[in-house]
Amino acid sequence: MDLKSAPDILVHGGRIIDPARGIDQMGNLWLRQGAVSEITPPAPAPEGRRGLLVVNAAGAIVCPGFIDVHCHLRDPGEEQKETIATGTRAAARGGFTAVCAMANTSPPVDNRAVVEYIQRTAAARAVVRVYPLATVTQGMAGRELTEMADLAEAGVVAFSDDGRPIVDSGVMRHALEYSRLIERPIMVHEEDPSLSAGGVMNEGPVATRLGLKGWPGVAEEVMIARDLALCEVTGGFLHIAHVTTARGVEIIRRARERGIQFTAEATPHHLTLTDEWVAGWRPDGRRGMPYDTATKVNPPLRSEADRQALVAALRDGTIDLIGTDHAPHSDVDKLCEYNTAAFGISGLETALAVLLGLVHAGELSLPLLIRRLTCEPARAFHLPGGTLAPGTPADVCIFDPDATWTVDPSEFASLGHNTPLAGMTLRGKVIATICGGRLVYVDEQRKEILSGEVAA
Ligand code: DOR
Repeated sequence: MDLKSAPDILVHGGRIIDPARGIDQMGNLWLRQGAVSEITPPAPAPEGRRGLLVVNAAGAIVCPGFIDVHCHLRDPGEEQKETIATGTRAAARGGFTAVCAMANTSPPVDNRAVVEYIQRTAAARAVVRVYPLATVTQGMAGRELTEMADLAEAGVVAFSDDGRPIVDSGVMRHALEYSRLIERPIMVHEEDPSLSAGGVMNEGPVATRLGLKGWPGVAEEVMIARDLALCEVTGGFLHIAHVTTARGVEIIRRARERGIQFTAEATPHHLTLTDEWVAGWRPDGRRGMPYDTATKVNPPLRSEADRQALVAALRDGTIDLIGTDHAPHSDVDKLCEYNTAAFGISGLETALAVLLGLVHAGELSLPLLIRRLTCEPARAFHLPGGTLAPGTPADVCIFDPDATWTVDPSEFASLGHNTPLAGMTLRGKVIATICGGRLVYVDEQRKEILSGEVAA
């Protein structure tokens, strides 16, 4: 990104929330040459200043751009599902200014050539920052480690076989030992396949009612317990992806009490939806379609008690951060019976609005939600950004917490239209996203918020 040529931007009159610095105040945010310049107290915007783009943020929240450490961009290899161009446009629409691209592409990111392909393509086509991940094991086969040091040197920010667990404990131990040397997290998809085999939704009464094979929470919990033990022994960098169960949360909480250092994540869908959605239940009283394959995700949507435990964990810091696990699929993968459909939810463009549902319901405070989407992911993955501190990259999200809109996947920038939220009315909408001092998204219906050097 050529920051020198980014215009000066004044984000005028919003409520500025920067959890990294404990800021929550009304004011003006100034961005100059692609970096945050300063926050000034409320004052009228200067009129007709040359070279200044003014974004009217009255009534809106202004915060650091969100950072998604868990995002499937599918490029290379499955460009019918998503590309780096479409996935990053979806990110911008969702208020994200940086995404970590998961490594289960085709071919997987297990060598430098694929990393360089992603970096080159992102430089040419991405509208937000793309940080590549590489796989932990060659071909994601779970046996031989990749050349982790070489891949880290090439710019990989973390390692993950996500989509597949690392079943072999010896391999996992070595990966954690290496992670310490190269100071990059190992991000784990926790699933013991001997327990989850054939499961397509949460094991429990809803699965029984629907006649679907269950994927039990304990398949996740035994692996969380194993990896925390290995993390303690090795002192490695562990990041636990998409935690979903109350018992998993309890195991993590106890590990924190023991002083083990690691990070953990929850997704917007596990924080807000339950396995009742697979049976067609919807919160707005409408009945959804039972067996809707858009609800099929790995790990699966869990019970309401699990969901509540996850939200409590997000509140008290047992879970550090939110990752979307944006997993776009095409119709051929989803328009089929539940048992054969692909796992995954396309989540970048609905993440903020569903999460704001927790804020509107009084389950979470707004500054804490923003913290879990900004400075905490930056801290966990050692990434720049996640704050509006002067001198940091001008990555900003501006959203209206009260605007209502109806989810229409055909309007997504993502090629993945697989969302169980289709047709639902949500409250909270991104109105503009700025990345590196450039406006990378403005809500079509809110273009009047821009004045001054709009063309820039
Ligand atoms: O639902 C999922 N989809 N979970 C994963 O772990 C992988 C992802 C995918 O790649 O589609």
